[in-house]
Amino acid sequence: MMSRFLIFGILLTTCSIALASDPSPLQDFCVADPNSPVFVNGVVCKDAKLVKADDFLFRGLHLMGNTHNDVGSNVTSVTVAELPGLNTLGISMARIDFAPWGINPPHTHPRATEVLTVIEGRLLVGFVTSNPENRLITQVLEKGDVFVFPQGLIHFQKNVGNGNALAIAGLSSQNPGVITIANAVFGSNPDIDVDVLAKAFQVDIKVIQQIQSKF
Ligand SMILES: *[C@@H]1O[C@H](CO)[C@@H](O)[C@H](O)[C@H]1NC(C)=O
Repeated sequence: MMSRFLIFGILLTTCSIALASDPSPLQDFCVADPNSPVFVNGVVCKDAKLVKADDFLFRGLHLMGNTHNDVGSNVTSVTVAELPGLNTLGISMARIDFAPWGINPPHTHPRATEVLTVIEGRLLVGFVTSNPENRLITQVLEKGDVFVFPQGLIHFQKNVGNGNALAIAGLSSQNPGVITIANAVFGSNPDIDVDVLAKAFQVDIKVIQQIQSKF
């Protein structure tokens, strides 16, 4: 009897992990009302009677982002912040532009799986599985190829074609979030104690200070 409860408990736990994603909508739509003073998990709904077609529209993903920066890439996000109609729908998208040899540095989306397709150019992409394997899954993508980065895993892209590259990504959250590894580890505010990072990365404190000074 006891063991049956135990198995049931394990099954429940497994199911709740497997179903971890944005909650399902409880109505046709819940257009975000960014001006509401109420805080909920997500964004409060605008009165459905006041909802307009514009609430479901974002214009401008045909526009190239400016890639003149240290990494040579630019992400244009279309999340609930840019498109209020996405609220409660568990989905968003992004345009990623790459200068020649530009990279989208290693990062993770804490709340979303990402499926990416190359519209123009050639991209080296990859993600790393969790501990203890830390296996790198990597691929070179050509125009029209689609690659998936599983939720939470650290991933990156690099333009390895001749010329600019363009990719479009779909993400399984209205608000996927981004944790750029270098910024979070070396550019936190305030800094993480140098001794913590020196031991974690097995380098001299001076190396850590040098990297911290860049973020
Ligand atoms: C990305 O491009 C937009 C539009 O050109 C620009 O406003 C923004 O500063 C760029 N971001 C980065 C990180 O270069």
